[in-house]
Amino acid sequence: MVRLPYLTALTTLFSYGLLFAFGQLRDFFRKLIDWPKSKNLKGYAPICLGLEDFYTRRLYLRIQDCFGRPIASAPDAWIDVVERYSNDNNKTLLRTSNTTKCLNLGSYNYLGFAAADEYCTPRVIESLKKYSPSTCSVRVDGGTTKLHTELEELVARFVGKPAAILFGMGYVTNSAIIPALVGKGGLIISDSLNHNSIVNGARGSGATVRVFQHNNPSHLEEVLREQIAEGQPRTHRPWKKIIVIVEGIYSMEGELCKLPEIIAVCKKYKAYTYLDEAHSIGAIGKSGRGVCELLGVDPADVDIMMGTFTKSFGSCGGYIAASKEIIQYLKYTCPAHLYATSMSPPAVQQVISAIKVILGEDGSNRGAQKLARIRENSNFFRSELQKMGFEVLGDNDSPVMPIMLYNPAKIPAFSRECLRQNVAIVTVAFPATPLLLARARICISASHTREDLIKGLEVISKVGDLVGIKYFPVEPPKHEQDQKKLE
Ligand SMILES: Cc1ncc(COP(=O)(O)O)c(C=O)c1O
Ligand SMILES: *[C@@H]1O[C@H](CO)[C@@H](O)[C@H](O)[C@H]1NC(C)=O
Ligand SMILES: *[C@@H]1O[C@H](CO)[C@@H](O)[C@H](O)[C@H]1NC(C)=O
Repeated sequence: MVRLPYLTALTTLFSYGLLFAFGQLRDFFRKLIDWPKSKNLKGYAPICLGLEDFYTRRLYLRIQDCFGRPIASAPDAWIDVVERYSNDNNKTLLRTSNTTKCLNLGSYNYLGFAAADEYCTPRVIESLKKYSPSTCSVRVDGGTTKLHTELEELVARFVGKPAAILFGMGYVTNSAIIPALVGKGGLIISDSLNHNSIVNGARGSGATVRVFQHNNPSHLEEVLREQIAEGQPRTHRPWKKIIVIVEGIYSMEGELCKLPEIIAVCKKYKAYTYLDEAHSIGAIGKSGRGVCELLGVDPADVDIMMGTFTKSFGSCGGYIAASKEIIQYLKYTCPAHLYATSMSPPAVQQVISAIKVILGEDGSNRGAQKLARIRENSNFFRSELQKMGFEVLGDNDSPVMPIMLYNPAKIPAFSRECLRQNVAIVTVAFPATPLLLARARICISASHTREDLIKGLEVISKVGDLVGIKYFPVEPPKHEQDQKKLE
């Protein structure tokens, strides 16, 4: 839960108000100046308009140096960030040939597989030589290699489902599968903070979409009961099917899904569950099997398990794991399976190798070590940040930990100052978060050493003091205070 302090809310609103007012004023004058030119449109309506565009021009562009910074290395514990400069107040940013080595607290490299790995990398190189970067074909034509079928079997076994299907992109896995599963006459009930790929998949499906309060099983039950009583719009016929969509770890909140409670509600009302494990698969659970394993949920109770290979496995693509019947149905009907070029073979090999390491099937215990490491690292970093007085969102064991910034001026200040001290941090603002709830998002990796984490904490603490984001200073324990007085 966000604990937005009252005064901060006011100043944040004031800042946005000010930016908005000045932006509008400047837009007004620009329109006056550009008025003679507007005849050039020759009857066409302008293609880019609206408040989002206003936001881009008047807010985002002012701090665009904090986003999309080019990288010149693998996203390991340390990365090379390309230095840029600008001759026009950051309107255009030009690359130099110099790079800065920075501690990487921003990539989803949870298990450290995204950089060279003694087991994965040689196998990926071999598969690149054998299969080339692309199959140049869709799955149902020439795009199914031995590797693709091997990975489908391996993923199914790993997550504990009878079958699985692969897609070239995690985003597409949601946005193309949801419309294949449910359409007109169906009902989707979606967590209010679900990822954009789910939102767009649900919108594109033609089903009725209802949203329940983030991670709130009792509100989910309320919405379900109400919708089942109402039935389909106008006709009030019963829904053809109901699917409840949630995520394992919410990527902007670092929170774990209340899966056991949500499944209990879904079972009671005979709704299917769809679980997006993009950030949780591989990263949490004793053997890396995600939120089901961590929270003691039987995978048989989750109807559709979705995940991506872009985080813990250091590759690209996504999967759906479900019953044989559902997977077969998707293979016959899903356009992203029938009409999109299949996953790149070396990317498939990377996932196969990474899962084998996680399962200990490479003949070492490196997988178990990585899993222990990510948990220790995450819990250490989170508790240290909390002790420093930052407002940190999310749950223990989650490697994602947002630090609340709120004020728009603090976004570039925090990002630039951390970078100056060689710590690369991702800041997130509207539209990825609500306007007032801008944050920095730390992602911890198993490849971080304790020294790395301590360096990161030192810099974040210093910059936090400078920028003024230690919103909840922690009082030292009473006996320490007394001791100080005595001294
Ligand atoms: C919850 C969730 N689902 C899906 C995706 C999309 O996956 P990909 O980035 O692999 O396309 C993401 C990406 O960050 C995500 O966080
Ligand atoms: C441009 O970006 C740099 C950091 O990359 C920053 O120090 C500077 O203040 C920015 N300039 C403006 C006008 O915003
Ligand atoms: C690269 O870094 C060196 C040493 O810090 C500096 O002298 C040089 O000007 C930089 N080059 C560019 C293009 O910024």
